[in-house]
Amino acid sequence: MKTVADYVRTIPDFPERGVMFRDITTILQDADGLQLAVAGLREELKGLDYDVVVGPESRGFIFGVPVAYAEHKAFVPIRKKGKLPAETISEEYALEYGTATIEIHRDAIRPGQKVVIIDDLIATGGTTEAMIRLVERLGGEVVKILFVLELKGLEGRKRLQGYQISSLVSYEGK
Ligand code: PRP
Ligand code: MG
Repeated sequence: MKTVADYVRTIPDFPERGVMFRDITTILQDADGLQLAVAGLREELKGLDYDVVVGPESRGFIFGVPVAYAEHKAFVPIRKKGKLPAETISEEYALEYGTATIEIHRDAIRPGQKVVIIDDLIATGGTTEAMIRLVERLGGEVVKILFVLELKGLEGRKRLQGYQISSLVSYEGK
């Protein structure tokens, strides 16, 4: 029996020397890989009471939407700055070089709604931390955070203490 890990392609020295890039496209381009990943994420949500799935552009959309659809939940996109047309709130977070800003529509989450965050990968945890701030500023409650892949060496979980976090595949390194 294959697992999600079997569908991840590792590319050494991309995008720079010393980095082992974990490529999810090889999960997606295989029908069985895609089904396994979505099923694995859904399994983590069994019995959980929540209202909405939130996922970030762009790789978060790939896994967040099929889970929300299959579970008959709403999906709320978080996008990079300047892409959402209605009133937004935004959060800045640190990248390796410089900063990035992500946004959510102000009316996308109502106070008291229970939110599941889904993304493809946790590395430093910076993106997730910013997503949590956006959801909580709107009065949402983050009840679970799911990732397909986790790079444990970057210790992203340390920044997300107090939240319930699961990943389908984790790697010791960066
Ligand atoms: C990647 C990945 C996660 C994030 C993880 O997204 O898809 O969203 O980085 O890194 P972190 O834990 O250090 O924040 P990226 O911003 O590269 O954009 P993409 O999803 O549009 O490819
Ligand atoms: Mg991303």
